[in-house]
Amino acid sequence: MPERARILVIHGPNLNQLGTREPEIYGRTTLAEIDADLATAAKEWGAELACFQSNHEGEIIDRIQAAAAGHDGILINPGGLTHTSVALRDALAGAGLPTAEVHLSNVYAREEFRRHSYVSGVALGVISGFGPIGYRLALQALLRHLEG
Ligand code: DQA
Repeated sequence: MPERARILVIHGPNLNQLGTREPEIYGRTTLAEIDADLATAAKEWGAELACFQSNHEGEIIDRIQAAAAGHDGILINPGGLTHTSVALRDALAGAGLPTAEVHLSNVYAREEFRRHSYVSGVALGVISGFGPIGYRLALQALLRHLEG
């Protein structure tokens, strides 16, 4: 790992709507605020972040493939793709980078179909249910892992 860990942050489908999307479930914090908080944390912890949001599975997979070379880890909230996408899981496995999975809501306390994640099996760990602070916690855990 280089002196400054390079982390790719990926926000999946519909997360661009945070702030107004089902606020009773996802809260009122916007994606821009989440990215700004992550940037503050990264600065404090000496990491470099590249943040990316897409509503398109293929675009996310392209980005993960491209990331394998220039990054040390991935922090991802795959949104609904969590529960549907073998292709996303394969892309993460192929990239071979330590990956932290984050969910704002507690996916285990919601509908049955949200209890299964295709991503968790190729992730270092999962943080689910703690709202926006979960991203910061996941970044910290990922950086600790990379420090060895
Ligand atoms: C989510 C949970 C998913 O089930 C859902 O499809 C999302 C957001 C979360 O952050 O809680 O889009 O990943």
